[in-house]
Amino acid sequence: MTTVPLSGAGYQPAHSASIVIPVEERVPTRRRYLMCPPRYFTVEYSINPWMDPDQPVDTDLAMAQWTALRDAYTELGHTVEVIEPQPGLPDMVFAANSGTVVDGRVLGARFRAPQRAAEADHFRRWFLDHDYHDVVMPTAINEAEGDFAWTGGLLLAGTGFRTDPQAHAEAQEVLGVPVVSLRLVDPRYYHLDTALFVLTESGPEQTARVAYYPEAFSPGSQRVLRRLFPDAVIATADDAGCLGLNGVSDGRNVVLPTEAKQLADELALQGYHPVLVDISELRKAGGGPKCCTLEIRD
Ligand code: ARG
Repeated sequence: MTTVPLSGAGYQPAHSASIVIPVEERVPTRRRYLMCPPRYFTVEYSINPWMDPDQPVDTDLAMAQWTALRDAYTELGHTVEVIEPQPGLPDMVFAANSGTVVDGRVLGARFRAPQRAAEADHFRRWFLDHDYHDVVMPTAINEAEGDFAWTGGLLLAGTGFRTDPQAHAEAQEVLGVPVVSLRLVDPRYYHLDTALFVLTESGPEQTARVAYYPEAFSPGSQRVLRRLFPDAVIATADDAGCLGLNGVSDGRNVVLPTEAKQLADELALQGYHPVLVDISELRKAGGGPKCCTLEIRD
């Protein structure tokens, strides 16, 4: 841990100049993301509690919000690849659900809802067309990074609403990484990435850090999370309720929905740099920044 003096851009305690809070130096790493513009985005069916087909959706606004998210990534120095959206697949904007890539190995998706099934093959073809020869399509229901989070050493894997526990075993076998299963219990937090995200990946000098909302998990899974991540950032119900746990971190910059105020403040205190984006239109389908972002780890 590096202790950096708190000055300039850092947090300055208001009351006492003598308090020095140790803040770890947060080091960003460049990422490569795959995203899909929401050109055909609507809410015309309901497969999670956020989706109400009677509520109007502004597709142009969704496009503008998505474009701002993509631009935020490129301004941070990340590479964004774009896959062509398909008419009739309104949820295809949620690219995270269509692949889990670790060390250049691609495990594709198999959706639970028939309305989304066809998305999986578009992404499979994108990977094949971009020289990923090692693409395996799952046999069990697998909603990819919706339910899988890579910590740098472990693949955290959610189940309970979408991804089948069988897919966890399959991911371990295909990707060759240790998988830890976690059970989700609140239908609003139907994917792991609505309840937990990785702030800092583990590396030679550091253990992984995550943020999560404990109440989204079963009692046993809460104990697993406490054991694995004793210094996790614990989110409030308000942070979770705006899909604030659907964040994307590069180790320093943390892209979050604008409403996730308490989480943003806490992360800033801990030396991260919150980058707030308005993703309100896509939230009508139950999505946030992470849902729109599939990370390609070569
Ligand atoms: N409407 C989509 C669904 O319910 C939203 C998916 C959000 N994606 C995510 N990675 N959580 O499948």
